[in-house]
Amino acid sequence: MSFIRKNIENLEVDPFKQIGKDWFLITAGTGEHWNTMTASWGFMGVMWGAPSFICAVRTNRHTFSFIEKSEVYSICFFDEKYRSALQFCGTRSGRDCDKAKETGLTPAVIDGVPVFAEASRVFICKKRYSEMMKQEAFTTPETYEKWYGTDPLHKQYIGEIVAVYENE
Ligand SMILES: Cc1cc2nc3c(=O)[nH]c(=O)nc-3n(C[C@H](O)[C@H](O)[C@H](O)COP(=O)(O)O)c2cc1C
Repeated sequence: MSFIRKNIENLEVDPFKQIGKDWFLITAGTGEHWNTMTASWGFMGVMWGAPSFICAVRTNRHTFSFIEKSEVYSICFFDEKYRSALQFCGTRSGRDCDKAKETGLTPAVIDGVPVFAEASRVFICKKRYSEMMKQEAFTTPETYEKWYGTDPLHKQYIGEIVAVYENE
């Protein structure tokens, strides 16, 4: 692992590909006690004058209790060869298995935040705002029915991207 800190203004990013197609891991907790999960919904942009990343975590995820308790957490992106590891972290719960042991991903810590040594790019995020989605706020009822008919709502987290690292 050799993570180099980068200036976010110099990053070349295609958010639709990097988030929606490549996926990413949301990891929160401490170096000793963390959990991670795969996500493919999110946003990167600017909020309150700062580079920001928004992710959404359903309340039944094990990761939910970790991100709730964390002021900072990581968003890790990976090369295609780690697709099966991300598939695993998106279909199994950390309540029932050791995701690092099962995937071979190597837990590491940057700036006190849990990350994975194999990540190609890491955003260290500082939580600035979090809010539960509400049924009454949906202006298209079919969206609510499609995504929350049987599953719990998401809580969204707006994190300031306080540092960016790339593996070189
Ligand atoms: C491609 C993919 C994308 C996912 N995106 C999200 C997401 O954005 N938000 C979410 O709450 N769950 C998402 N999930 C589901 C969680 O990753 C999954 O429920 C995981 O097992 C939760 O693990 P945990 O219980 O250890 O937190 C996604 C799963 C996959 C495979």
